[in-house]
Amino acid sequence: MAPKIAIVYYSMYGHIAKLAQAEKEGIEKAGGTVDLYQVPETLPNEVLAKMHAPGQSKDIPLLEDPATLQKYDAFLLGIPTRYGNNSAQWRTFWDKTGQQWATGGYYGKMAGLFFSTASLGGGQESTALATMSTLAHHGIIYVPFGFAKAFGTMSDLSEVHGGGPWGAGTFSSGDGSRQPSAKELEIATIQGEEFYKTVAKYTG
Ligand SMILES: Cc1cc2nc3c(=O)[nH]c(=O)nc-3n(C[C@H](O)[C@H](O)[C@H](O)COP(=O)(O)O)c2cc1C
Repeated sequence: MAPKIAIVYYSMYGHIAKLAQAEKEGIEKAGGTVDLYQVPETLPNEVLAKMHAPGQSKDIPLLEDPATLQKYDAFLLGIPTRYGNNSAQWRTFWDKTGQQWATGGYYGKMAGLFFSTASLGGGQESTALATMSTLAHHGIIYVPFGFAKAFGTMSDLSEVHGGGPWGAGTFSSGDGSRQPSAKELEIATIQGEEFYKTVAKYTG
């Protein structure tokens, strides 16, 4: 049976949302299907307005109940960096997963990660490392992206690009004006493709 995969993300300004679509394309290219979810907003509207946040997309369902994820074999998690770590919206989601933590609701499922930071050195790797602890406590098996499947693009320094062996990534710049580049989207698509193949191999 084909594995059931969910892409779950939080995106305030749309960068992670674009990577999520590229990851989805990769999964579909590999012959799979995927459901997309957004982690719900936690900041008050007044604060969001001051941050010039456009609001969450109405097209992608909100993941209010963590039990929803129990029906999937694997998740790709899209995490925008805050101070080198997960966004509070993501942490709030994980704070709701005590039941899954205690009873093994996510135990043995597989997860890959992708990131967005404002800048180089802004914390794509530290965000990945911070997430390892959450995955370990749940018994979720982390699937790294590695270098091999996109070696040429990953190691090409002719232009700035995000992403690394921990997962695809983009740089938004401080004011959010930079958009995911063709190379970053390509890396995300390859990650989706390879993630699907790995999950299919170990859950098939
Ligand atoms: C409170 C706050 C903290 C942030 N911390 C970092 C950081 O540590 N490093 C960094 O490069 N970018 C940081 N950023 C920028 C976000 O990572 C960036 O806005 C995000 O990746 C854009 O993705 P999105 O469009 O999907 O929301 C921060 C943004 C906010 C609002």
